[in-house]
Amino acid sequence: MFVVVGVSGGIAAYKTVQVVRALVTNGHEVHVVPTADSLRFVGTATWEAISRHPVTTSVHDDVAEVRHVALGTSADLVIVAPATANTLAKMAAGISDNLLGVTLLATTAPVVVAPAMHTAMWDHAATQANIATLRERGVHIVGPADGPLTGGDSGPGRMVEPDEIVAAALAAARRFAAAGAPASDLADLRVAVSTGGTREPIDPVRFLGNRSSGKQGVAVALAAADRGAYVHLVAAHVDDGVLEKALHHPRIAVERALTAVEMDAAMRAASAEADVVVMAAAVADFSVPEVSDVKIRKEDGTVTLDLVENPDILIGLVQDRRPGQTIVGFAAETADDDAELRERGIRKRSRKGVDLLAVNRVGWQEGFETAENRALFVDATDEVASHAAGTKRVVADALWDAVLRLR
Ligand SMILES: Cc1cc2nc3c(=O)[nH]c(=O)nc-3n(C[C@H](O)[C@H](O)[C@H](O)COP(=O)(O)O)c2cc1C
Repeated sequence: MFVVVGVSGGIAAYKTVQVVRALVTNGHEVHVVPTADSLRFVGTATWEAISRHPVTTSVHDDVAEVRHVALGTSADLVIVAPATANTLAKMAAGISDNLLGVTLLATTAPVVVAPAMHTAMWDHAATQANIATLRERGVHIVGPADGPLTGGDSGPGRMVEPDEIVAAALAAARRFAAAGAPASDLADLRVAVSTGGTREPIDPVRFLGNRSSGKQGVAVALAAADRGAYVHLVAAHVDDGVLEKALHHPRIAVERALTAVEMDAAMRAASAEADVVVMAAAVADFSVPEVSDVKIRKEDGTVTLDLVENPDILIGLVQDRRPGQTIVGFAAETADDDAELRERGIRKRSRKGVDLLAVNRVGWQEGFETAENRALFVDATDEVASHAAGTKRVVADALWDAVLRLR
């Protein structure tokens, strides 16, 4: 693939060296287009050496080869990492006063951007409006992650890690290439699915977690993608190998979100672009308000952990729902019999306000970690719309059948 990597002026530019390196190592032809400011962070020599191509910031170099247009029109994929607030604003406004801006206007390839900036800049209404504009135009936004920032602050604004950028970009390119795939009953539906179990840190070595393997959510994502949907899969912790097929599916883009707070941000962003949202992840209800910097040691035999409630992601998604969006929740319940399971499901469906709730019974032997599952689907009439039992894929397909009946 012919990949253009735009680099703008943030400290995170040093991480983009690894993005370029990974793409080159995987056999892609990579052309780096830095902004002039970004060269104060990582210089031309580094980009030329690792991309093995000449690098310029100016539209006035290689004029005879019409380089200012050629890069954009040749590209199969364009990545901008880091994307500064400034470069995002210029992209949203279509400003083309440097080679990166011209390339972005000249291309019809998928564009993937990885924003990086201080939290205050990210949260600013101007940046958020620019991000919304870019999303509407089909630009894929990866991150930003929540974590330590340059200067000692911490919060959303950190560029996601290089391997995540590469995975998201290649998935976007695969989806783009597969756009002519045969039509089927979910064709062109944009779907956001969460999966896995979050892990809430307690100290550097411990966390509060749960037994979710991620299998059911991944089955939901694969079923949707196989039936023609474009899927944004947000995965918390999953068992080994569970994500494998999803990572290679041309219509699935995988993003990782390991804590409840990361999952909240990732699903809000994903659902802003989705026709259907399926929240299958097991998100911790509680977290530790202050994560210890050091390993908590054994002292007098008793340790007390304070826990605070995490945001209810599903309720937040329902409150911010887009017109026409269908929202599906999963409820894992312990119940003595089917009647109790049904009652719990009906109560939970109305409390969460979702269009459909997949209720499955969990226990030491059921639901978690297993390949098989059983679920009943409660809709907004508070009726059990359908049942499913079998492999997690069978349950996933039954879920999509129920969603299609609702839509
Ligand atoms: C040390 C340093 C770090 C910076 N980091 C960022 C950053 O992470 N994100 C950002 O949006 N701007 C950052 N800036 C500000 C940008 O470099 C500045 O807005 C510049 O005009 C961006 O130009 P460009 O988008 O053309 O590269 C930083 C500036 C300095 C001096």
